[in-house]
This record gives sequence, structure tokens and C-alpha cells, in this order.
Amino acid sequence: MSRLHLGILGSGAGSNMQSIMDAIDAGTLDAEIKIVMADVEGAKILERASKRGIKAMHLDCSPWKTKLEGEAEDRCIEILKREGVDTVALAGFMRIVKPKLLAAFPQRVVNIHPALLPAFPGVAGWKQALDYGCKVAGVTVHFVDAGTDTGPIIVQKAVPVLDGDTPESLHARIQIQEHLAYPEALRILASGEWRMEGRRVRYRDGAGTEGGRSSM
Ligand code: GRF
Repeated sequence: MSRLHLGILGSGAGSNMQSIMDAIDAGTLDAEIKIVMADVEGAKILERASKRGIKAMHLDCSPWKTKLEGEAEDRCIEILKREGVDTVALAGFMRIVKPKLLAAFPQRVVNIHPALLPAFPGVAGWKQALDYGCKVAGVTVHFVDAGTDTGPIIVQKAVPVLDGDTPESLHARIQIQEHLAYPEALRILASGEWRMEGRRVRYRDGAGTEGGRSSM
């Protein structure tokens, strides 16, 4: 076991960060959130973090709109390192992270994506799945690599698409699974009982579950 020292990057509501905080508070995830940064000023994720007494700050990423690069990337890395972060969790961070950040935290940058990758990478994965006519949608927690939503998969959870689903209703049901999947993936990393075999992330059955028994 090795306690995770998390740095969380987000852009929006921060419900995934909330699920991570809740797991820590419940004693089911051995981690500490060192810093939360958002590229959007006043984002709710910052408010949630501050309320819990976690250091939270706006990270100005201009002039870029869709990526974290250049001076902002340097600043981000410097802050993460200074705060003692060893694992970076992207939680609704609406920017592409670049190789410099990935190199600063090798195999230690993870992301949550609201679709069953490799299907529907990019924006609004749940809506892509619905529009495509999928009967099953879901969520993926994965390591981040140089591509967009292409890194090795740690945890996936499936969610049925119902007849009457709208993008909003499907996303809401996917988010319930997100809030289970992210703590589960982080528990696997904290357990230390995982390894990479090619693209496959292998771990002991149950390494991610609260009581040591796997639901996967
Ligand atoms: C989630 O649907 C996540 O999968 C996606 O962005 C959304 C973030 O939600 N990457 P929140 O800010 O964690 O509530």
C-alpha cells in the first residue's frame, strides 16, 4: 500500500472530486488531496475543495483554450511538485494535457471519461453513445497518454441505455457509476498491486474494492 498524494485538475462541478473526497473521508481510499486546480475561475470544484479545507486555486491557462501548454503547463507542474503531488487525477478537466506534464508524472496521470473507451473519445461521450444508438454506455478510468482518451484502461463500468433516455438522463446515470469508478481506480493504484502488461493494466481481483472483493 502506498498512500496517494493527489493533485486534481478540473473545470466544472467537481462531482468526481467529491466522490474521491468522500472515499477518503470514509476511510476506503488511502489518499490525500494536496491541491485542486481549475482552469475556470469560480468553478464549483474549487468551492467544494475549499469547503473541505483543501488548497484550491484557479490556473490561468490562456492563451490556449483547449490544451494545457507553455507557461501555464510549467506553472502547473511546478505547483503540483511543490505541493508534493505524486498522482494527478483529471476530473472533468476540459483540456488536453501535453507530454511535459505526463513526463513529470510518468504513469501517474489518470482521467475519467464518460464512455466505454475506445468508443466515443472526446466531448460528451454519453451523447455520442446515445446518438449512435448504443444499448450500453458507460464510464472509463484510464491512464493518460499522448493521445485523446487513448491510455491504458484501469476500470470500466457499463450503464444500460434506456428507451426513454435523453442525453441528460443518460449522463446522470453514467455519473452515478463514475462516482464508484474513480475511487475504485485510485484504490487500485494505492494498493500497489497492479502492473502493466503491454496496454493491459493487471491487478489482483478485488484490489479496487472497499472490502477486498471485486465486483469486476
Ligand atoms: C464527467 O462526466 C467526466 O466523466 C467528464 O466530465 C464530467 C465531469 O463532471 N470527464 P464533474 O465535474 O466531476 O462533476
